[in-house]
Amino acid sequence: MSGTPVVLFGVTFQNPILLAAGTAGFGREVDGVIDLGALGGIVTKAVTPEPRQGHAALRVAEFRGGMLNAVGLANPGVERVAAHELPWLAERLRGRSTRIIVNVAGATVPDYVRVIERLTPMDAITAFEINASCPNTSAGGLEFGSEPAGLRELVRACRAASTRPLSVKLSPVLPDLAGMATVARDAGADAVSLVNTLPGFLDRRLGNGSGGLSGPALLPIGVLATKRVHENVGMPVIGVGGVRTTADAREYLAAGASLVAIGTAALADPRVPERIAHELARG
Ligand SMILES: Cc1cc2nc3c(=O)[nH]c(=O)nc-3n(C[C@H](O)[C@H](O)[C@H](O)COP(=O)(O)O)c2cc1C
Repeated sequence: MSGTPVVLFGVTFQNPILLAAGTAGFGREVDGVIDLGALGGIVTKAVTPEPRQGHAALRVAEFRGGMLNAVGLANPGVERVAAHELPWLAERLRGRSTRIIVNVAGATVPDYVRVIERLTPMDAITAFEINASCPNTSAGGLEFGSEPAGLRELVRACRAASTRPLSVKLSPVLPDLAGMATVARDAGADAVSLVNTLPGFLDRRLGNGSGGLSGPALLPIGVLATKRVHENVGMPVIGVGGVRTTADAREYLAAGASLVAIGTAALADPRVPERIAHELARG
């Protein structure tokens, strides 16, 4: 329960604090504001095969418990990520210990496979995080991670496509999170990331209509998910959701998380993750 190094995926993270997927882009957005080299790792925003514009404005809306976002997986596409974004980030982190985890998204299983096959040869990547909360167009828009067969097919295909470790990111709305984590593990996942955003809607606040809830309201939900999976499945967990303070990060670590990712709190103040990493290290 400290800021001391963590071994996960067979490698050492210098501390347990990560930047959560989608909230720091590929690092450029926060470079110069924080020292990326002081973090355990950065999880990139979702990468899809093709460039994606994302949803119409407004893409974020605040409310008392946190915020809603409907970004729509906006990203430059895997070719640009491979040619520009990841080489930039790897160069920025040269000589530092910060790990790079690439978040992967798609509308079909072959979309995920394409991204993972294209990026696996890049040495700078420590692991992939599979965003299983995307609608599966081949299953009528049902999320990949919402039922066992869809999740199994996705994780098996990703496993077969890469030699790198995989963490599967699950939605907090699943009725049996431990059961779905078991499906992911048995299909070849090395870890699960708990949790993704919670579906939400507030009238005329987002261009897309509904969105994903993140921030403080997610903290007890993510901590419970972490505890359930840690106790019942025993596989490694990357805890994420609602962390604003060092005490919040300790909740995830005490519940069994190996690493803790921070998103919304860092959008408001980008120095939060670095501060928490330092405070954990002080014990
Ligand atoms: C603006 C925004 C964009 C996000 N983009 C992604 C993404 O691309 N892939 C993903 O798996 N999760 C994405 N997330 C979810 C976060 O990684 C995280 O799971 C969630 O926000 C809960 O953590 P937090 O309360 O610390 O923000 C996004 C969240 C926000 C707020």
